[in-house]
Amino acid sequence: MNLTKNPYKGSRDFFPKDKRVLNYLFDKMKIAAEKFGYEPYDGPLLEEVDLYKAKSGEELINDQIYDFVDRGKRHVAIRPEMTPTLARMVAQIHQETPKPIRYYAIPNLMRYEQPQKGRLREHWQFNCDIFGAPDNFGELEIIQIIISLLQSFNANHTHFEVLINNRKIVDFVFKNLLSCSDELSYKLYKIVDKSKKVSKEALQEMLNKTDLPASKFETFYEYLNLKNFNEVETFLAKNGFENPLKPFIEKMTHLKLNDYLTYDPTIVRGLDYYTGVVFEVFDKNPENRRAICGGGAYANLLQIFNEPALTGVGFGLGDVTLTDFLKTHKLLPDFSKQNPDIFITYLSESCSDFAMEVSQKIREFEGQNLQVVFHPLPVKPNKAFTLAENRGAKLIIIIGESEVAARRVSLKSLITKEKIDLEFNALETAPILKLIML
Ligand code: HAM
Repeated sequence: MNLTKNPYKGSRDFFPKDKRVLNYLFDKMKIAAEKFGYEPYDGPLLEEVDLYKAKSGEELINDQIYDFVDRGKRHVAIRPEMTPTLARMVAQIHQETPKPIRYYAIPNLMRYEQPQKGRLREHWQFNCDIFGAPDNFGELEIIQIIISLLQSFNANHTHFEVLINNRKIVDFVFKNLLSCSDELSYKLYKIVDKSKKVSKEALQEMLNKTDLPASKFETFYEYLNLKNFNEVETFLAKNGFENPLKPFIEKMTHLKLNDYLTYDPTIVRGLDYYTGVVFEVFDKNPENRRAICGGGAYANLLQIFNEPALTGVGFGLGDVTLTDFLKTHKLLPDFSKQNPDIFITYLSESCSDFAMEVSQKIREFEGQNLQVVFHPLPVKPNKAFTLAENRGAKLIIIIGESEVAARRVSLKSLITKEKIDLEFNALETAPILKLIML
């Protein structure tokens, strides 16, 4: 058998340098969610496939799901998204839980996609969802979290925008203005969802294949060409429909976050469960024009468990698209090195015991959790410096015969080159920390 060393197509191995990036993203995600009072949850990797069939939509089920029959003859799937699992969990506890319920998770998900830039078969996805919030507050908070997260990487409205729509607007256009049946409406949703990715001719061809009468094409395109909030406002007023986005926009404006928002009639989202506000966060750089994140409001997801309706709003933000975004704007710090606090080694075999003793003592400094990398071989000073610098260590300690004899330790900052020399018994947190913090 000829085994490959590569990971499975569309999945990744995470070596320490990759894991450092992922941990950095996860830390920021946790901070953003917890800042808004969201609590962590998690669920199983496998679910019964019916859970996704109920509401996730045909693309996910027909083309992207990893499913199989287990040894107990259950038809199961590896989770392609987290929202159905969350809905299942919230259905268990919502009756006795005070509202709003605010949950977050960072699961790994699998979708059978054609691997390409921004799309893999396995990715990590930051999810925040709020249930039972009054109208518009959930939507507002969810968008605030995303903006706060991206701002924590020093990104702002020059780097990204939130393209927003409301399915109630789309439903009004399809049902009231185009008189579509549910079936035709569903088809038009899929066409609108794809409209930005295809040519005008291809779009027209897709439309021709539906039952939409040619007399309605003009209205369809009138909707699809709405460019901003003023245009949608005028369009809806002309047709006697109150703009459901208005109170939300007013709240965003009050928080001075409206600079981030752009109205986009093509945002309808591929997943079937959304019923209200829908949005995608896009990179503004033309080189990386793709969705970093997507989400929206869903009113009926709990009803698949025969529970009363409870409105949820949430988003999913993937690590792949976030990393591409940060790299595009040079907002990702350099994680190529380990950057331990201290690198410690010795010049000859007879010094190793004392060098180990020093390492042990520093690791035990209360409450500091200093990272001490011990190099367990005698090396020449030049080599020791190279090894420490290659790892990006902040401090170096080299133990030689004279240090052992005097039970003294000399520490050198690799950043400022400052040096201190201490007796072993006088080794304590303060002077070492001072050098590390420099
Ligand atoms: P989604 O739009 O399918 O929504 O995915 C959300 C985000 O996950 C995307 O914008 C992208 O960043 C990332 N993503 C999705 N698929 C892939 C992939 N194959 N490779 C890399 N990244 C990917 C959902 O999944 C909803 N469940 C989100 C949600 C939560 N809605 C409400 N709550």
